[in-house]
Amino acid sequence: MNQKSKIENRKSRPGHIIAIDGPAGSGKSTLAKLLAKELAYTYIDTGAMYRAVALKMHELVIDIEDTNVLKDFCSKINLCFENKNGINRISIDGDDYSEKIRTSFVSQLSSKVSSKKAVRDAMVRLQRLLAAKGSVIMEGRDIGTVVFPDADIKFYIDASPEVRGKRRHSELQEKGQDVSLEKIIEDEKKRDLMDSTREHAPLKKADDAVYIDTSDMTIREVVAKMLEIIKQRKIF
Ligand code: DC
Repeated sequence: MNQKSKIENRKSRPGHIIAIDGPAGSGKSTLAKLLAKELAYTYIDTGAMYRAVALKMHELVIDIEDTNVLKDFCSKINLCFENKNGINRISIDGDDYSEKIRTSFVSQLSSKVSSKKAVRDAMVRLQRLLAAKGSVIMEGRDIGTVVFPDADIKFYIDASPEVRGKRRHSELQEKGQDVSLEKIIEDEKKRDLMDSTREHAPLKKADDAVYIDTSDMTIREVVAKMLEIIKQRKIF
């Protein structure tokens, strides 16, 4: 997409779009939530969509290698994504998936399912619809590259595998899930490899994204840096 089309698209939208991409455990969800609160934007966690769809497919024993079955499944499900007071709720056909998708098992499963083009096409369509209503902060793997190559600002949030593993470990411990740090780091490396080497919309930094390595930074420091960049861009 050339610069002229990007500018025209931005002007025709009802609000602004801030894209945040990065690998597992980079802190992008926490950052996206905090920034959304600060700027009064709607926060959209696209990973939750892939997680919910993956778990639903698993429950229904759907063969993810069969493209026709996948397309049929994606065209029939009613995936409902809501943002209530900054908290994302996700349901499929009326069943709430918000909590049960936060397990190591679903992390690996969603990485596999999200490599399928039929699934990606359906999720991207929904993500674009969600952003058509106003200003959003959308986080995932392909937001700045595929979903919104014309986003107003793009960030790519990164951290070392060890730091990312430790963050995920504390998160899971807080939820009472007992997984060893070594296993988390190993699983995340596997997932990042799958996510960044897949054929369709692989995880990568958009050329025009701001890269931030958060390994040695506190969340507050990163938020402050992002807000400063947003202010400098004068999009508001
Ligand atoms: O952000 P997360 O860990 O909840 O994402 C779960 C998986 O979903 C991730 O391993 C890859 C996939 N995903 C994706 O392919 N594209 C996105 N925009 C978001 C997530």
